[in-house]
Amino acid sequence: MSSDLSIGLHDLSAATTEYVLTHETLAGRTGADVAKYHRGLGQLAMSVPAADEDVVTMAATAARPVLARHGTDRIRTIVLATETGIDQAKAAGIYVHSLLGMPSATRVVELKQACYAGTAALQFAVGLVHRDPERQVLVIATDTSKYDLGSPGESTQGAAAVAMLVGADPALLRVESPSGLFTADVMDFWRPNYRATALVDGQESISAYLQAVEGAWKDYTEQGGRPLDDFHAFCYHQPFTRMAHKAHRHLVQYCGQDADDDGILRAIGRTTSYNAVIGNSYTASMYLGLAALLDSAGDLTGRTIGFLSYGSGSVAEFFGGQVVPGYRSHLRTDLHRAAIRRRQEIDYARYEELHRRSFPVDGSDLAVPRETTGPYRLAGISGHKRLYEPR
Ligand code: HMG
Repeated sequence: MSSDLSIGLHDLSAATTEYVLTHETLAGRTGADVAKYHRGLGQLAMSVPAADEDVVTMAATAARPVLARHGTDRIRTIVLATETGIDQAKAAGIYVHSLLGMPSATRVVELKQACYAGTAALQFAVGLVHRDPERQVLVIATDTSKYDLGSPGESTQGAAAVAMLVGADPALLRVESPSGLFTADVMDFWRPNYRATALVDGQESISAYLQAVEGAWKDYTEQGGRPLDDFHAFCYHQPFTRMAHKAHRHLVQYCGQDADDDGILRAIGRTTSYNAVIGNSYTASMYLGLAALLDSAGDLTGRTIGFLSYGSGSVAEFFGGQVVPGYRSHLRTDLHRAAIRRRQEIDYARYEELHRRSFPVDGSDLAVPRETTGPYRLAGISGHKRLYEPR
């Protein structure tokens, strides 16, 4: 569908957790050379949720400043993307809607397709705004990445939420059409309903990701997308930041161009700073990459950014976005840096204790200890119900 209407990101706000575990501490436990984590994976630290934090509290924390700035009058839809579901039926966004005191005349829904779902939410939001340009959609991507202790995936954990207000005449970024799409039925990473941690075939997941980059780009060009050289920078899904390097190298080579290290660094280097210290935040990861780029680069006005969203299983989408004039006065750079800086460093024993925590499954009551210094907390569980409260 072609249209002169400009639709995209009007606001973007990220939040992460109370605690952080450094890869130096992790290496002290696993015996790995810390250079494997720092250079091999491109990861320095990972966010760890406090006992009273989860995808709901992170989502509400990320969205709160968006509502404080823009109000709720124009928002009639919340689409929350997560693969860290807390209920098989009820949408996590309803708890967020309640914590934020949003009007009852709102539709709230949850989307899932591994790390890709944040992009599905964004594209569905763009469609809703096309239908009624007076309205805005609150898209929230929120996840905690959790693998078994001692497994290779452990070093690629993390947690964060990104809230995005999608509307007409956006203040930050215009989302372009077309998109390039790719779906393949692969078992590279999955989490059956009865498991709290993901199962993964690490090397298979990297190959599946690279195949999906190729497939999504091929479709993008077939749909009449821009040539590679039009893009000033590329935001990739970052399960670990070196993956963005691998993915961009693959794309450049697929396009028959020279993939030299400097060129790759120029294209993706400014998108990795938040992910390197937060870790994999699944649905939020690519949008943290965008936040890092907007917050750190020089003036990007008028520049076109390429986005490659990947979710295991697998679905990928490539699309472009154009940075709009005046965007710098709408950024939340200080908030993002403070959210990262304020985390308390924990040792391996404390992290392990948090990792092993689970909730009663027999309906008994549990009061969750007060730990977070963020605005919202999970207060407890009672009769199989999660109880949230402002802190
Ligand atoms: P691993 O076995 O721990 O590590 O698995 P490795 O042996 O493959 O080494 C990793 C890198 O470190 C290699 O670099 C080594 O050479 C290097 P590469 O050759 O690949 O460029 N290395 C060193 N570098 C410097 N000094 C050293 C040193 N030693 C080794 N001393 C793996 C790593 C990522 C597979 C593992 O952590 C894992 O399984 N993670 C989870 C899965 C994952 O993140 N997959 C990524 C693609 S799938 C995806 O992105 C989707 C996902 O987000 C889920 C979703 O969609 O919902 C995961």
